[in-house]
Amino acid sequence: NKKQTGFPEGFLWGGATAANQLEGAYNVDGKGLSIFDMVTFVPKEQRGNDIEMDVKSLKELEELLAQGDEENFPKRRGIDFYNRYKEDIALFAEMGFKTFRMSISWARIFPNGDDLTPNEEGLVFYDKVFDELSKYGIEPLVTLSHYEIPLHLVRKYNGWTDRRLVEFFVRYAETVFDHYKGKVKYWLTFNEINISQFSPYIGSGILVDQVEHVEQAVYQALHHQFVASARAVKLCHEIMPEAKIGCMLARMEVYPETCHPDDVLVALEEDQKNLFFTDVQVRGAYPSYMLSYFEKNNIKIEMLPGDEEILLQHPVDFLSFSYYMTQVASGNPDKLKQKGNFSSGIINPYLKSSDWGWQIDPKGLRITLKKLYDRYQVPLFIVENGLGAYDKVEEDGSINDDYRIDYHRAHIEQMKEAINDGVDLIGYTSWGCIDLISAGTSEMSKRYGFIYVDQDDYGNGSLERKKKKSFDWYKEVIRSNGTNL
Ligand code: BG6
Repeated sequence: NKKQTGFPEGFLWGGATAANQLEGAYNVDGKGLSIFDMVTFVPKEQRGNDIEMDVKSLKELEELLAQGDEENFPKRRGIDFYNRYKEDIALFAEMGFKTFRMSISWARIFPNGDDLTPNEEGLVFYDKVFDELSKYGIEPLVTLSHYEIPLHLVRKYNGWTDRRLVEFFVRYAETVFDHYKGKVKYWLTFNEINISQFSPYIGSGILVDQVEHVEQAVYQALHHQFVASARAVKLCHEIMPEAKIGCMLARMEVYPETCHPDDVLVALEEDQKNLFFTDVQVRGAYPSYMLSYFEKNNIKIEMLPGDEEILLQHPVDFLSFSYYMTQVASGNPDKLKQKGNFSSGIINPYLKSSDWGWQIDPKGLRITLKKLYDRYQVPLFIVENGLGAYDKVEEDGSINDDYRIDYHRAHIEQMKEAINDGVDLIGYTSWGCIDLISAGTSEMSKRYGFIYVDQDDYGNGSLERKKKKSFDWYKEVIRSNGTNL
């Protein structure tokens, strides 16, 4: 019963990325198109908000396909990690990374998603990446699906609305588990599985013009994803008994705007809609509050015999989540909810915001950790956290990102407090440890990295990598295991 003080030995410090935002080489060595290859860059002035990234109709999708490479599709080029992974991994190693979060692009392994046999060249690429990481003793943490649904599955099946995707995903998971066993010990199934509530195309590959009742389609698709995830957990344990596999939630703690009971109740209900995902994936069953929500909203989930058993018998080993912000909820229906990223639109007057309006709340991370641990009592892993900011390269080439250092320091301090409070936290991978393409806005100029990449929103630049001031700071954080902040 010894209580942990400060970061435990073996804490998994590192950085996080996703294939579609980093690799480039979108049509090389047999890779098929995936959903994010179809999202174009829209300049800030013309954009409604930061999560308008969905392709919404089959017609729009076919038009985008017909455009070839003429439009600006930033995720197709990424930051050329496909060719520069050795240089990038050497920089991660120099920072002392214990772990590196990355995703496998499903469409690199199964170009159409429903193929019967994998694309060998795709498998070889990740072999090379894992071998390179292993040279430096960096443990890969691999997401199976990070907004990378093969496009063919959208066009032919309307994504996860179709039950057949469960089998395609299981085939993909089994293939990569078999192939990379011995090389990868930490796995995640779906990145930010709750994203489908905001972006049906990115989260579940759904074209909303193809369905009658969008919410119904989204929750049905999510049911298929839950089953696929649980089956992947089962397979992972069978194929690699020593491996650990987790779920991944975009966690958004909801604060009531005031102590008025109406605000408190709405905050609680909003929070439940977010925790629903981990309730299913960690506790192994649909929570009653959600069944009641389905009933009220005329949503009927079609389940096959055995689905509930699969969910119950194969919960995840740990809970991972991204943390960028908290939300504020009001019981007053007149308080119009304007959409801005994921948050409700009600501004928290006690917090500052990033240049993209994301409210910065380090203490909210401590609250998040304590609440999640109270609820689930499983190891927690923060697999994304960071500050998207404009960086300036000075004349002497330096990049003085003190704001980023301040951001991470404040969050890491709160992680330490949470550990001291008794939370079992096993790791921290900062988002976009190297500058990459933004998921929400497809900008390059929204930078998160400790490593600068010379490229602009239109793909101009040398792609040269440069260390920012935060590089040495994070290196010392890792070296001192979170003591020197
Ligand atoms: C998370 C995603 O939503 O937030 C990442 O898992 C994403 O893929 C990150 O990049 C930051 O969001 P954005 O829109 O600033 O890139």
